[in-house]
Amino acid sequence: MPPIAYLESVRSHHRLSADTPRTLDPDTQESLYVRYDMDALRRTAHRDNPARYAAASPRSLGMWRYRDVLPDAEPVTLGEGWTPMLQSKRYPGLLIKEEGANPTGSFKARGLGLAVTMAKHYGLQHLAVPSAGNAAGALAAYAAAAGIAAHLYMPQDVPFANYLEGIVYGADVHMVDGLISDCARLLGEQIKAQKAANLPAAETWFDISTLKEPFRVEGKKTMGYEVAEQLGWTYPDAIFYPTGGGVGLIGMWKAFEEMEALGWMAAGSRRPKMYALQSTGCAPIASAFEQNQSASQFFQNAATFAAGLRVPKPYGDFIILEIVRQSGGRAIASTDEEILASILDYARHEGIFLSPEGAAATAAYDQLIAAGELSPSDRVVLFNTGAGLKYTDMTADAMRLRRPQSLPTSLPVGGIITPV
Ligand SMILES: Cc1ncc(COP(=O)(O)O)c(C=O)c1O
Repeated sequence: MPPIAYLESVRSHHRLSADTPRTLDPDTQESLYVRYDMDALRRTAHRDNPARYAAASPRSLGMWRYRDVLPDAEPVTLGEGWTPMLQSKRYPGLLIKEEGANPTGSFKARGLGLAVTMAKHYGLQHLAVPSAGNAAGALAAYAAAAGIAAHLYMPQDVPFANYLEGIVYGADVHMVDGLISDCARLLGEQIKAQKAANLPAAETWFDISTLKEPFRVEGKKTMGYEVAEQLGWTYPDAIFYPTGGGVGLIGMWKAFEEMEALGWMAAGSRRPKMYALQSTGCAPIASAFEQNQSASQFFQNAATFAAGLRVPKPYGDFIILEIVRQSGGRAIASTDEEILASILDYARHEGIFLSPEGAAATAAYDQLIAAGELSPSDRVVLFNTGAGLKYTDMTADAMRLRRPQSLPTSLPVGGIITPV
């Protein structure tokens, strides 16, 4: 595992040391990327390193198979990464990357797994996050595994599973009457108050909000390495990615830059078109894309059952938009009705229970196939970012489905177990 050479702010390219834990560039408030000595990496990181395939050490599995390009620290792992790539039954070119197979049932395990690994490395004892739900659940699990306290702020109407995760893993759970933006504000005030009260550093909470620390992007970049490796070190034509804060999209793009710099991709390989998919109930990126703007506007009255997409103003909006445009992709929003219809369609025809966020991607995919903008044979990797089973309450509500109140009279209770 390589040492971090420095942290680099995304726009100003300021270089900062990674010797102490950092959130944003203190001068510009920009996000920071992890940078390595690429000349050294070219000598030490090997794409086809057989050690990466050895099952002898559990650390050689999952996303840690890419430890040659991840920071040098002892992993806190629950088995995240190396998720299945499922061939669609109907579209020959469509591959569904099943991120619901991760620990805690979502791709958040990758980013939070690495963020908690680094927090432990730095000796941090309190981590805090505003979350649309799944990041909170993932932080709670990894913090428990690391013996670190987790403080979670999430909207009170998140899927019940996210609340339950927080409680089960023993986190400090704050349910907020508002959106993730309100959660971020309240958490910010709390940390400010702790600093004003001169709380000892060990007791001060460390904020690991999306794109406000460098390691969640670094963990999620493993999706980019994984897609390429699972396709025999080639790129797909397009990647469909449900976008809230956009960490995965940004992380994958970083992975592509690194893989190319390391010579892991054949010269002249064309990067995939990146599609950012949202719900019309909260579509800041899709709206900015449509209106040809370089950053998003705060999306008023955000409401969608795709809870992870309810991010009214992503911190890295300008980075997401830049990547989508540069790649020749698009940002598209589907209605919640279309998203629900897509959940049912893929469940019934593919056997895959999508998260509402994943179904925002399938809904857009089907729309582009129908419009002839994509062909069923185009090689597309579509991310189902979470397990549909984490959303039983939200999806059932969207379907107006209720548990039957009484059992049918033809099935007497106990009749099956107790012979008459
Ligand atoms: C299942 C799921 N998909 C997508 C997203 C959006 O992720 P990102 O912030 O990386 O865009 C989230 C965020 O909470 C999520 O939980």
